[in-house]
Amino acid sequence: MSKQDFTRFYAKRTRLMRASEIRELLKVVESRDVISLAGGLPDPHSFPREELAEIASYVIREYGEMALQYSATQGTRVLREALSKFMAKFMINALPDNILVTTGSQQALDIIARTLIDPGDIVVVELPTYLAAINVFKLYEPNFIGIPLDDEGMRVDILEDKLKEIYSSGKKVKLVYTVPTAQNPSGVTMSIDRRKYLLELAEKYDFLVVEDDPYSHFLFEPIPFKHLKAMDSSGRVIYISTVSKILSPGLRIGWIVANQQLVSIFERAKQSMDLHTPTLNQFIVAEALRRDIIDRHLPRIKEIYRMKKNIMLEALEEYFPENSRWTRPAGGLFIFAYLPEGIDTKAMLPKALERGVIYVPGQSFFVDGSGKNTMRLNFSYPSPEKIEEGIRRLGQVIKEELALK
Ligand SMILES: Cc1ncc(COP(=O)(O)O)c(C=O)c1O
Repeated sequence: MSKQDFTRFYAKRTRLMRASEIRELLKVVESRDVISLAGGLPDPHSFPREELAEIASYVIREYGEMALQYSATQGTRVLREALSKFMAKFMINALPDNILVTTGSQQALDIIARTLIDPGDIVVVELPTYLAAINVFKLYEPNFIGIPLDDEGMRVDILEDKLKEIYSSGKKVKLVYTVPTAQNPSGVTMSIDRRKYLLELAEKYDFLVVEDDPYSHFLFEPIPFKHLKAMDSSGRVIYISTVSKILSPGLRIGWIVANQQLVSIFERAKQSMDLHTPTLNQFIVAEALRRDIIDRHLPRIKEIYRMKKNIMLEALEEYFPENSRWTRPAGGLFIFAYLPEGIDTKAMLPKALERGVIYVPGQSFFVDGSGKNTMRLNFSYPSPEKIEEGIRRLGQVIKEELALK
């Protein structure tokens, strides 16, 4: 081992930290002329730049003494009150005391995993599910159970079968993690009946439900849904959300809503992570909420994403081979495509890159290692021309790959 090889200093848990496939891909794109359908970035035109510039200077001038100071781990009172009002519009009743402000909802996932998951605990996720959630949960060494999705979200009937099996062998499920509305990566939304069914199972089998909800605030197609948290009568739903997709991801403001006892252990965990979320950013978001900037901007964000999603759907119809299928999302940033069996999207990626287009191979979103023939396609960031051209190039690569089979 060379002296320059520092792996000898790594902690055991460091081996569980996988480099995110998406981040590695994004690095490639930054250095080349490639159309990226791989990222998950909001459209930069959706940021209310002028208003935020004005608010940033206003809060520093008016509230500088507090806004530039350390603040409480739970989050500033003014932001928690503003979030409580914001969520009331979505029928989520959350008192400021039940809210913990986090540094992005990614930190919320880490806090939840850190405080609740012991090695060997059973954690249920959707097949596919959000990659960064898998990666953070993994550090706490759970046993994952994956439940397939269809157009109505998680197959809760399959979950029930699994639960019966697990409980009859004397084990328990600790928590179910779901992105029920405009899911990442698939874009599907769980039906109201399935949501009720999931909560019934949570009661019957005594597990927690983590509802990760970055996308419901800007659904661009009208679909019926109700937050799990709004249907939760026993406090077993832990709700997390973020301003990343409705205001700006660079602000890194997310939050958790949970039962009081859980909020206080989450607060304890957060304290050792970063003391608190940047106070200045909390003041900016609270003021943006007070001025209704998010509500005023949402129609514009929805319009941009609806238009881009439709362009991608049309291009898929035109350029992808017949025996492939894809989701038709009502919100979010992604379409998930299922290619003919036998195509390995990971192995195909270098060929796509050669043609100047990249995507995220779907397999890493499946905790059971399935999904080899799937891919996640982002429509929020690329321009309409790039979406169409990217799908055209990708269609060609897939058809050539099929011709080789
Ligand atoms: C399902 C899901 N959860 C959490 C996050 C993390 O968001 P944040 O920027 O708030 O950390 C994302 C971001 O894309 C996401 O899609």
